Amino acid sequence: MAMEDLKKQAGVKAASFAKSGMLIGLGTGSTAYYAIEEIARRMQEENLEIKAVSTSFSTSLLCQQWSIPLLSIESVSTLDMCIDGADEIDPKLNLIKGRGAAHTLEKIVAGMSKEFYVVADQSKKVDKLGRGMPVPVEILPAALSKVEHDLIRLGASEVILRKAGKSKDGPVISDNGNFILDAWFYNIENPKNLEKEINSIAGILDNGIFARYATKIILATSTGLIEF
Ligand code: 5RP
Repeated sequence: MAMEDLKKQAGVKAASFAKSGMLIGLGTGSTAYYAIEEIARRMQEENLEIKAVSTSFSTSLLCQQWSIPLLSIESVSTLDMCIDGADEIDPKLNLIKGRGAAHTLEKIVAGMSKEFYVVADQSKKVDKLGRGMPVPVEILPAALSKVEHDLIRLGASEVILRKAGKSKDGPVISDNGNFILDAWFYNIENPKNLEKEINSIAGILDNGIFARYATKIILATSTGLIEF
């Protein structure tokens, strides 16, 4: 089965947990996209009444396009559930997120949610976090050199300022107006400790390790959906 079909299966399954009257956090990325699309379809076709909180400009635009009513993130303290993607998932449900530079708001939303459903295809499952993905770190631009230095002292092998690419010269600027550093740790023995240690560095907003946030992983594989 094609990768996009796998992602869609995971997204549709996660959206099936949505019930009328719920306040739902909506994540960012190409797999969360399918969950958002399915929630919009259910609102239209099944008269589901949902209000949502968005984790990025990208997701807010989808909600506008599909008429999903949005509450501002600062006005909300608890959510019934949220659905989001991940870049790496270990067997203990620890995650690395933030390829889309949205992890700071994604973690606020996940932290408010009674249930956090993670949707992904099988390529995201790993034995140990960090081997194939750096840890994204959102930083205040003024703290660039200091934080690079502190992350190396903490054990990162390499710290790279994320560049925007073809569409813009210079660094990626997050939705919050900050820089993103990609810190390679390669072998993350204790995700919870590393998450805390990185966040104790002044100048860092948040990092992409989500240790013990997820309540359920919905993983699409070529032989069907796996939930754990
Ligand atoms: C954005 C994220 C995404 O959820 C994560 O990168 C997964 O994206 P995709 O489903 O497109 O692979 O954390 O900041």
